[in-house]
Amino acid sequence: MCGIVAYLGNKQAYPIIIEGLRRLEYRGYDSAGVSLLNGSIHTYKKKGKVQELVNFAENSDKNGTVGIGHTRWATHGKPDDLNAHPHVSGDGKISLIHNGIIENYAVLKEALAELGHEFKSETDTEILVHLIEEYKKRDNLPIEEAVRKALDKAVGAYAIVVIDEDEPDKLVGARKSSPMVLGIGDDEYFLASDASPIIKYTNRVIYLKDEEIVTIKRGEEFTIRTIDNKLQEHKIQELDLKLEELEKGGYQHYMLKEIHQQPITVAESMKGRLNADEGWVQVGGMQEYMNRFINADRIILIACGTSWHAALYAEYLFEDLARIPTEVEYASEFRYRNPIINKNDVIIALSQSGETADTLAALTMAKEKGALLYGVVNVVGSSIARFTDCGSYTHAGPEIGVASTKAFTSQLTVLTLMALNLGYKKGTITESYYRRLIVALDSIPNKITRVLALSDQIKNIAAEIKNAQNALYLGRGYNFPIALEGALKLKEISYIHAEGYPAAEMKHGPIALIDMYMPVVVIATNISAYEKVVSNIQEVKARKGIVIAIVAEGDKQIKEIADFTIEIPATEEPLSPLLSSIPLQLLAYHIAVMRGCDVDQPRNLAKSVTVE
Ligand code: G6P
Repeated sequence: MCGIVAYLGNKQAYPIIIEGLRRLEYRGYDSAGVSLLNGSIHTYKKKGKVQELVNFAENSDKNGTVGIGHTRWATHGKPDDLNAHPHVSGDGKISLIHNGIIENYAVLKEALAELGHEFKSETDTEILVHLIEEYKKRDNLPIEEAVRKALDKAVGAYAIVVIDEDEPDKLVGARKSSPMVLGIGDDEYFLASDASPIIKYTNRVIYLKDEEIVTIKRGEEFTIRTIDNKLQEHKIQELDLKLEELEKGGYQHYMLKEIHQQPITVAESMKGRLNADEGWVQVGGMQEYMNRFINADRIILIACGTSWHAALYAEYLFEDLARIPTEVEYASEFRYRNPIINKNDVIIALSQSGETADTLAALTMAKEKGALLYGVVNVVGSSIARFTDCGSYTHAGPEIGVASTKAFTSQLTVLTLMALNLGYKKGTITESYYRRLIVALDSIPNKITRVLALSDQIKNIAAEIKNAQNALYLGRGYNFPIALEGALKLKEISYIHAEGYPAAEMKHGPIALIDMYMPVVVIATNISAYEKVVSNIQEVKARKGIVIAIVAEGDKQIKEIADFTIEIPATEEPLSPLLSSIPLQLLAYHIAVMRGCDVDQPRNLAKSVTVE
């Protein structure tokens, strides 16, 4: 949450920072601001998206080759101009941007107020810049030393960048529990929440570690020190990220592009891990730890949001195919409920961003108990990827739409491969079923292409139900998590209240809500529960609900009773979510567009939730 970007080099900083902020807007879009250093500090900040800031600063002096910028997702203090970052010190000489939360800000604020500091905003961040100012002046310190001392007093999470009018050729950045990447160009440096603002200029980066402070000085080699002042060795990584991956590529929205990329991204998730001709699956990250997996007492999956739905799918898979007791936990609950974790447990963390604060904290707790930590992560080099003992990248490429789509189906793919690999090694699936599933999985990308061809039909259905105030999503077995995910997609981007339920549970509550205005989306592709789902549809129709059924191609029975049917290619039941989730993404997308919603940046949400 919150995106930060900073520049020091020979170019004008403002356009680089604005472009970077646009790329980071997925992290929050409540307000945006910049500070530029050109003799003195010029700060412009504005409530709303980056474009509001651009309009606001249009006729102002934007010169300067050093600068910092911020796009905010509000935590402390409402989204307005005053609470927008950067925040400046009392004397106006130091400016700071921050992603995270300073938990002890109230105590610090009181102490600083006693020393005469006056605050303009309601943010925790402003306290930090005053604290830095206090150390700088009191002890006559260079800015990086003042930052180090201030951070030593701060409790909480931060990624910050600081500039100081008295030392105009310096950028100081630091992080703890919030991400920060240093980009190293030719005589120019970048600091940002992720590599997307940097990649246009350089692919040479360093991911800062917790409690590291980087000092960049024009014309000198940068240094990285820990908060207790130990000089750190550093290793520059070369990123393999292309600029086109960060563009819309002709689509109206990132979300639509990402939905349509799924034949490729699912194939990427399988690449090198599945060979249908030779009939094998092998997930690299698991091999070294295969015995730990096979002998695990339990697999515990931890995640948040859409990733939690993928985790729930994995519970069905791992128990069905690999016969390993599996539990699924919301990371935020798990970390605080004193759970029993043993060293024979395997903890799998699922995360698109690899930065979700609750998931990271839950992993930290599990590590202390000696469990094996496995990460299924999309963003290469992210905190969760680095913190876990081992893991697999999902290889879906950058996902920019706030509502997750391609990252989700890539998670499902990797989890399926893991379950197949495990089931085969453990001997819990027959050779013939193993091979059948491999062949079926191999054909999924082509089948996704066929589902995507239904987009216009789904758009017509969207037109029929776009004014609904509520919607219900039903699924059974492997498709229950998909019903939850379908409902989440709709509420995230169209603001229609939607709930997902196991189809049979409908009778225990939601049925009371059904009337002629209630769309009920039913995933009815499961072969094993088909007749039961048909009964559920009858129950909805008997109460005049509008049934939209996702069925397998050639289905006749449901077609006769449902109001709308969306026919998708048949596949093996455990793999059906890889296809059934696609029409639900398209349905939510078309409804949101028709309702005039901001599909890529829905209100109040952020893509990467780096605060609790
Ligand atoms: C936010 C995003 C969701 C995402 C969730 C977990 O809420 O808006 O799309 O599913 O965080 O994020 P992660 O990066 O850990 O998968």
